[in-house]
Amino acid sequence: MKILLDTADVQYIKKAVDLFPVDGVTTNPTILAKTKRPFLEVLQEIRSIIGPQRSLHAQVLSQTAETILVEAGCLVEKLGKNTFIKIPVIPEGYKAMRLLHERGIGVTATAVFTAQQALMAAKAGADFVAPYVNRIDNICGDGVQVVADIVHIFQAGGFETGVLAASFKNVDQVHKCSLVEAQAVTVSEDVFASLTKHPLTDWSVNKFVEDWEAVYGKGTLISPK
Ligand code: G3P
Repeated sequence: MKILLDTADVQYIKKAVDLFPVDGVTTNPTILAKTKRPFLEVLQEIRSIIGPQRSLHAQVLSQTAETILVEAGCLVEKLGKNTFIKIPVIPEGYKAMRLLHERGIGVTATAVFTAQQALMAAKAGADFVAPYVNRIDNICGDGVQVVADIVHIFQAGGFETGVLAASFKNVDQVHKCSLVEAQAVTVSEDVFASLTKHPLTDWSVNKFVEDWEAVYGKGTLISPK
């Protein structure tokens, strides 16, 4: 399962990409607005940090197919290959997905709350669909079950569209998405940090150092001399 960062914090992205096998970055208008910087400048900076191989998912604001296409063209021109245009699953959005797919431009259908929205997006040619797991949970739905249903429907229908699950509050939601074979998740800084941590790991590392230094002295490392 691919793991992407759902943030536009360039310093954080720089650090995370250096340390971890991050597969890409997703943004949305809310995330970009938080930077209070020119949005294209931020997106281009993210592209330069993550390089051309990782995927960058950037969202349009328009609500008509015609203007979505204009925004998409601008994003692809500025951000290059492996850019996916995030389009909400609204009626004109599905049309834009179809038109962009016909032009060979990558599309991520976003703001997905139901499996049938995801199916419609896949039929329109989306490369990824992004169900909002925590926002579904927040309305007494079952976000992971929606992800599982989409994975099943895509497998049964022979769709190549991937499930890029989004909107997570905790590691358990991410873990369950991996168990139902979502192709990708995108997570905030907080959730990403929690993915790799465990207090017993820290305890174990401290114990190794303590036991080692008790015999070989403080700060002693393995070296050829
Ligand atoms: O990209 C969609 C995602 O960012 C929504 O996440 O945490 O705002 O529900 P959240």
